[in-house]
Amino acid sequence: MRETTKQTDGPDHVAIIMDGNGRWAQSRGRPRLFGHQAGGKRVREIVRACPELGIRYLTIFAFSTENWKRTQAEVSGLMMLFKRYIQKEAQALLEQGVCVRFIGDRDKLDPKLVEMMDALEKLTDQNDLVHLTIALNYGGRDEVARATKRLAQEVAAGRLDPDSVDETTLARFLDTCVLPDPDLVIRTSGEARISNFLLWQSAYAEYEFTPVLWPDFTADTFAEIVAKFSARDRRFGAVVG
Ligand code: IPE
Ligand code: IPE
Ligand code: MG
Repeated sequence: MRETTKQTDGPDHVAIIMDGNGRWAQSRGRPRLFGHQAGGKRVREIVRACPELGIRYLTIFAFSTENWKRTQAEVSGLMMLFKRYIQKEAQALLEQGVCVRFIGDRDKLDPKLVEMMDALEKLTDQNDLVHLTIALNYGGRDEVARATKRLAQEVAAGRLDPDSVDETTLARFLDTCVLPDPDLVIRTSGEARISNFLLWQSAYAEYEFTPVLWPDFTADTFAEIVAKFSARDRRFGAVVG
């Protein structure tokens, strides 16, 4: 059993690049989808761990705008697992006080999946204990491009003065407009790269790269990384002390 002391100076918003499902499965001689399935079970455990770690916002990278480059079998397998996750978890998420949102471009997703995403958002929108954001067909550059397009449309319609556009204005058009910036970004599987995740929002996030593959990422590993974050000195460009 982990200690249940609430971190007072811990991260409010943690974002996770859940990586390594394929390698986890392959090292067991199993198909990649088996790893994605195991990864889905970890999501459940990590979401449940948030309240006692004092984490109010959890954002997870489930499918990137670049992941369409994978085989058709893997992509359709992942889409099937997303549907299954929503179906199986909706009630538990509602009861646990989790408010679910999706970020990313929904236009290229199966309308049936989009329908399920919309329904889960609606079902949980009164919840406030943990805000779970699932990045699905999400890319940081794509998000900024889509935001810029909508901003330009507002200018063209005469509703927005171009001289007034600043960082806050652009942030209002991002998929994450209602979320605080992440304090901590974790990537599993030993890769030390961002892979197009929350490019704008992570300007001052702390990063943690762990060699653990996502299907092996337990609530205890999560708690250790969160505890380490609290010891860091965040300066935001200023000279402190
Ligand atoms: C992360 O695991 C899940 C997705 C990107 C959908 P990977 O599928 O990238 O696993 P590895 O990196 O190939 O091991
Ligand atoms: C990033 O992992 C995307 C998700 C975790 C959903 P990838 O496995 O797709 O990233 P690269 O290809 O190693 O950069
Ligand atoms: Mg990967």
